[in-house]
Amino acid sequence: MAIQLAASGVEKAYRKGRNEVPVLHGVDLQVERGEFVAVVGQSGSGKSTLLHLLGLLDTPDTGIVQLEGERIDNLPERRRDNLRNRTFGFIFQFYHLLPELSAVENVMLPHMIRLKAFTYLKQRKAIRARATELLERVGLGHRLTHKPNELSGGEMQRAAIARALAGGPEILLADEPTGNLDSASGQSVLELLRDLNRERSLTMMMVTHDQSIAQQADRIVRLAEGRIEEWATANV
Ligand SMILES: Nc1ncnc2c1ncn2[C@@H]1O[C@H](COP(=O)(O)OP(=O)(O)OP(=O)(O)O)[C@@H](O)[C@H]1O
Ligand SMILES: [Mg+2]
Repeated sequence: MAIQLAASGVEKAYRKGRNEVPVLHGVDLQVERGEFVAVVGQSGSGKSTLLHLLGLLDTPDTGIVQLEGERIDNLPERRRDNLRNRTFGFIFQFYHLLPELSAVENVMLPHMIRLKAFTYLKQRKAIRARATELLERVGLGHRLTHKPNELSGGEMQRAAIARALAGGPEILLADEPTGNLDSASGQSVLELLRDLNRERSLTMMMVTHDQSIAQQADRIVRLAEGRIEEWATANV
């Protein structure tokens, strides 16, 4: 199988005033196309940091990130923006929905960003229909015009999932996508993601604290002391 996404020797520290907070100490990770990888590790171990580096939301201090064998962490800003918008879908740990937009508008956002204004207006109806369909799939068909502050935590999480899928990503980076859902809705979101993973060979890297979710992945990796350990293989 071909390696789609890889991190090699990735190190990252945050500077906080005069202190340096080392987080990643040489992460090596290879993900195959269509693979579903669960990322586990203690709070503060650097899981969100790693996902941000892989999805080009931040840059490593040293080491490289590659997509299909091409180095991407040092690309010019425009190419990085383009990859973030088209290749990667991101579900943030704290949703990052835009407060002034309704649920359906938040899900339309990747296309608003991607298209020129004229093209967007021409395609608006179709984009809205697709966004509605995604919200229905995550069980939010009845909350289309609600703004984020009119949604519950679990509903915001589901809207964020729909938005991450709206751009038709090849790689989904999901930071605790089921963290705020009860176990039944968590499981149904996981099944939706798993279906997309199978239907479209969507590659998934998912941070989770939930063992029963992690066990459904193809592979579990654990972040500890700034490095990756292969933890267990679940579905072999
Ligand atoms: N912008 C920042 N500036 C300074 N330190 C940071 C910053 N972001 C994260 N850190 C620190 O880096 C470490 C790793 O943070 P990160 O958010 O990656 O952890 P995590 O594994 O995702 O934790 P959790 O399970 O709680 O979400 C933490 O100790 C955190 O305090
Ligand atoms: Mg985190």
